[in-house]
Amino acid sequence: MMDRTKAYLQAPSPCFVVDEVLLIQNLERLASVQGRTGCKILLAQKAFSMFSLYPLIGKYLSGATASGLYEAKLGYEEMGKENHVYCPAYREDEFDEITRLCGHILFNSFTQWQKFKDRALAAGCECGIRINPECSTQDHAIYDPCSPGSRMGVTAANFQPELLDGITGLHFHTLCEQNADALEQTLDAVEAKFGAYLPKMKWLNFGGGHHITRPDYDVEKLISLINRTQERYGVQVYLEPGEAVALNAGFLVCTVLEIVENGISNAILDTSAACHMPDVLEMPYRPPLLGAGLPEEKPYCYRLGGPTCLAGDIIGDYSFDHPLAPGDRLIFGDMAHYSMVKTNTFNGMALPSIAILDQEGNLRVKKTFGYEDFKERLS
Ligand SMILES: Cc1ncc(COP(=O)(O)O)c(C=O)c1O
Repeated sequence: MMDRTKAYLQAPSPCFVVDEVLLIQNLERLASVQGRTGCKILLAQKAFSMFSLYPLIGKYLSGATASGLYEAKLGYEEMGKENHVYCPAYREDEFDEITRLCGHILFNSFTQWQKFKDRALAAGCECGIRINPECSTQDHAIYDPCSPGSRMGVTAANFQPELLDGITGLHFHTLCEQNADALEQTLDAVEAKFGAYLPKMKWLNFGGGHHITRPDYDVEKLISLINRTQERYGVQVYLEPGEAVALNAGFLVCTVLEIVENGISNAILDTSAACHMPDVLEMPYRPPLLGAGLPEEKPYCYRLGGPTCLAGDIIGDYSFDHPLAPGDRLIFGDMAHYSMVKTNTFNGMALPSIAILDQEGNLRVKKTFGYEDFKERLS
């Protein structure tokens, strides 16, 4: 365990704690890619919208990207740098506000582009089309925008070059937690299918899913791919990772409430996979737990579950050096991205508090939630 772990335990329970030191390590790595290539890296807010950290993130990155009006507004208000938006289909009643908030607007189809073109251009926005290179480089169908029949992006067969007037950039997003080899394969497909249009563009957005801050990520290959693309086509390359910004920078601190024996030992926690870390069930994956081992690795094994009614609200099986008891604190790792943004109050579960461990080692609780937050969303 790291030295700073003790400070995480000062948090209320349950609580997301983001460690500024770890976040800065990620941001420095991303900033070095920008510095060595001249590319621009945006925070994909869908993964991490902890806006109290946007001023810090904005010191390193070029701006933010949004999935729609609300994230666009958040990026505009709290980061105030380049603000991009992509949505598969915009709402009529939101579009004008989007044009006031965003410098770059990405359209998912030529129909959307035709529908909103005049309003976007009149507002002075840079406009782009999302392309679908139909190049799947991963097996998670739920996260694969290139799967057959996908609604994401324009395929080469549906591309309408005669409608490109006013379009200054193209965008693709096909990766999920991947290394630079998958990007290389994707770029080859993009060039083969859409290369003819690239010299006419000012910018090309490589989307997200680049796991740049993972220790084994091939940063040198990424840099050469960015440089190659920028030199070959004269475009400004953008990347918009979400996960890589906050990877391994946050924790979920929680407490054991009860032990239930039934052939195996269950520990019921005050946190829930279904409510606080739904990706554990959706992906699915087994989050790291500080100080714990794989089942059977250490002498005391427990199935960790939430206090909800959902039988499958199970985080996973973990082993410990000592028996668990009510009141014990546990710390799940890698809990900053796609966790806070996905929480819900199913079963009337309390939302975890949100805290920062700053560079000086002070735990600053930014927000706590209560009954009103549960009630406010219902009627
Ligand atoms: C269009 C787009 N950009 C960026 C991202 C961020 O991806 P990641 O958090 O995997 O880097 C996503 C994720 O779904 C996306 O759909």
